[in-house]
Amino acid sequence: MKLTDLRGILQYIPQFRERTFILAIDGAIVTDDNFATLMLDVALLWSLNICVVLVHGASAQIMSLAEGQQVKASDFDGAGVTDAATLDLALTASSRLTHEILEGLSANDLRAAYANVIIAHPVGILQGVDHLFTGKVERVDVGLLQSLLSQGVVPVIPPLGFDGDGKTYRVNSDGVAVAVAEQLKAIKLIFVTSQDGLIYHGKLISQMLVAELGRLVQQDSAGFATEMISKAQHAAAACTAGVPRVHVINGTLDEGLLGEVFSNHGLGTLIYANEYEHIRPAMKKDVRAIQSLTKQAVEAEELLKRSKVAIEKSLGDYFIFEIDKNPVACVALHVYQESNQGELACLYVASSHENQGIGRKLIQFVESKAREMGLKEVLALSTQAFTYFQSKGGFVEGTPDDLPPPRREKYEQSGRNSKVLLKKLG
Ligand SMILES: CC(C)(COP(=O)(O)OP(=O)(O)OC[C@H]1O[C@@H](n2cnc3c(N)ncnc32)[C@H](O)[C@@H]1OP(=O)(O)O)[C@@H](O)C(=O)NCCC(=O)NCCS
Repeated sequence: MKLTDLRGILQYIPQFRERTFILAIDGAIVTDDNFATLMLDVALLWSLNICVVLVHGASAQIMSLAEGQQVKASDFDGAGVTDAATLDLALTASSRLTHEILEGLSANDLRAAYANVIIAHPVGILQGVDHLFTGKVERVDVGLLQSLLSQGVVPVIPPLGFDGDGKTYRVNSDGVAVAVAEQLKAIKLIFVTSQDGLIYHGKLISQMLVAELGRLVQQDSAGFATEMISKAQHAAAACTAGVPRVHVINGTLDEGLLGEVFSNHGLGTLIYANEYEHIRPAMKKDVRAIQSLTKQAVEAEELLKRSKVAIEKSLGDYFIFEIDKNPVACVALHVYQESNQGELACLYVASSHENQGIGRKLIQFVESKAREMGLKEVLALSTQAFTYFQSKGGFVEGTPDDLPPPRREKYEQSGRNSKVLLKKLG
C-alpha cells in the first residue's frame, strides 16, 4: 500500500467520524471466500470511529436448504408468500448466517450482538393472496441499536421481525436495511451483493441521482437484471427517505468496500441525493453579494481583491451557496483548456455559516463540475487556508511551475506568494 493512499483516506474521516453506515449483506456473500476480508474492512471502519450496523439476507441459504431437505419453499427473499415450512427454513438459515457473521466479527476483535430490533406485522392478504408469515417492518427499535453502538457493539440484524405477541415473520432484508438506515439517520447504506452494482440494459450505473433512478425503476424496471430490481427499488427508496448516499457493490472483490467508501469513483454504483441543491450559478444581481461576502477576507488578505468588472466578466465561473434565498458562500471555477486544468477560486463561507461543511461541499461541487468538463486537475491558490485544502479537500502542495502559463504570469505579478495546491481528478 502507498502512503498517499492513506492520505487519500484521511480526507474522508472528518465527514464519516461518529456517523453510521448500514451494510446490507446478501446471504451469498457470507459464504464467499472474500467474506473474511469484508469483516476485516468492517473492523477498519470501526477503528476510524465509523459505526457500522450489519443487516443480512438469507435467500441463497434458504434455496440450498430447501434443496437439501427436498422442501418446496414458497418464497426465497421475503417478498412473496412465506408458508410455515419456508419460515422454518428461514429461521434455520438466518440463525446460521447471523452466527457466521458474529464469528467473522469476533475474529477481528469486534464485539457484536444479534439485534432483535425489527418490529413487524403480517403483510396480510394482497390481491386475495394471504402472505402468511411474510412480514412488513412496522418499526425499528432505534433505542436498542443506539445503546449497542454507544457501547462499541456491532449490531447484526437478520431478515426476521417479531410482533407484539412474539410471533416471528420473514421480512425482506433490503426493506430492513432501508428502514434501519432511515431511522438511524445513517449517512451511507451499502448493499453488498455478488454483482458489480446496478446494471441497466447491460451497462453498469456508476453514479446516478436518486430522481433519475426513481424514474428508471418506475418506467422500465425490466431494464435491470431480475435479481437487482429489489436493490434498485430499495436504493431509490432509501435515498428518497433521506439517506444521502446508497451504494451497491460487489462483495466478492477484495477492495470492493474500501474502494467504494474512500474514493469519489468507486467500482460499484453510487446513488445520491441532490446535495448541491443549495448551489446555483451566480447571476448579475449577485455581483454585489459576492463582493460584500468576500470583503472581510479581502481585507485580511485571504482572498484576492476582484473588481466588479472582473467578476462580471467571468460571472459564468461563479457559484453561490444559498440558504433561504440568502447567499452565504461563493466559489468560482476558472477553466484553462490548454492545460486541462481548473482553478478553484474565491472560496468564501460567511463567518455565520462556518464549520457546517459548506466549504467542503463547494470544493466537491467544483471538482464534480471540473470532472464533467473532462478536466484532469483542479488547483487552488491560498495564503491562509492551505492546510484546509490539504486536510479537508485532499489537495497536495505544488509549486508555481504547476500553474498554467497565463495564471503563472498573474501569480508572479501579484506578489501574494500564495501556496499552490493541486488535486488530480480520478
Ligand atoms: C476556509 C473556509 C472556506 C472553510 O469553510 P467552512 O465551510 O467553514 O469549512 P468546513 O465546514 O468545510 O470545514 C471546517 C473544518 O475546516 C477547518 N478550517 C477552517 N478554516 C481553516 C483554515 N483556514 N485552515 C485550516 N483549517 C481550517 C475547521 O477548523 C474545521 O475543522 P474540523 O472539521 O476538523 O473541525 C472558510 O473559513 C473561509 O471562507 N475562509 C476565508 C477565505 C479563504 O481563506 N478561502 C480560501 C482561499 S480560495
